[in-house]
Amino acid sequence: MSFLEIAKSRYTTKKYDATKSVTTDQLEQLKQILQLSPSSINSQPWKFTIVQSPELKDLLATKSAFNEQKIKDASHLIVFNVLSTKENYEKLRLANAAEGSKMYYNNFLKPKSEEEVTAWLKNQVYISLGFFLAACGSMGIDATPMEGIDTGEFDKIINQDGIYKSTFAVAIGHRDSEDANQPSQNPKTRLAQEIVIEVR
Ligand SMILES: Cc1cc2nc3c(=O)[nH]c(=O)nc-3n(C[C@H](O)[C@H](O)[C@H](O)COP(=O)(O)O)c2cc1C
Repeated sequence: MSFLEIAKSRYTTKKYDATKSVTTDQLEQLKQILQLSPSSINSQPWKFTIVQSPELKDLLATKSAFNEQKIKDASHLIVFNVLSTKENYEKLRLANAAEGSKMYYNNFLKPKSEEEVTAWLKNQVYISLGFFLAACGSMGIDATPMEGIDTGEFDKIINQDGIYKSTFAVAIGHRDSEDANQPSQNPKTRLAQEIVIEVR
């Protein structure tokens, strides 16, 4: 399948078939894909928590408002966490980074506020989301990106040491054949190219 065909066929799954799982081999590939995500100055300020324990998945589902049933029925839930502070990034990533990365960070990012730097860290995690969703599409795995989770409650469960904090999650698995959100039943809606793309 071409990338364009993947972009047209992947969609946000709203109803999963609880009897179908992602295979161990697919999970191993997804781990490598997450690890290979690109980031500014190769900062990699993330940790990906792959939730496969049904008990933990169900518990996190109860902290996910309108996403609860999707998480319960999905095969796995991946929580995308980010280093929680500028200091944690500097200690746990920058200290071992390439010289060029250190120079860039120290000159252009370190002088910025805690708020600006943590926003920059979070932006990097969103890059891995796009990468991951595209990968799932290419592998025939259905997925649901979710900002609709209670990150504070998630952190009490999976990030107790405070080094990382959760930002969003992605449920993965296989769609219920009657999922009303699949493109065959609910065609994609996007803004017209004239609005979002200019060529000059
Ligand atoms: C960062 C992000 C957060 C999202 N959060 C949720 C969510 O909590 N629950 C949900 O059902 N869909 C969620 N979505 C899905 C979007 O609504 C969906 O991607 C958008 O409507 C485009 O539809 P498509 O993914 O089917 O092409 C989220 C998408 C993104 C990228």
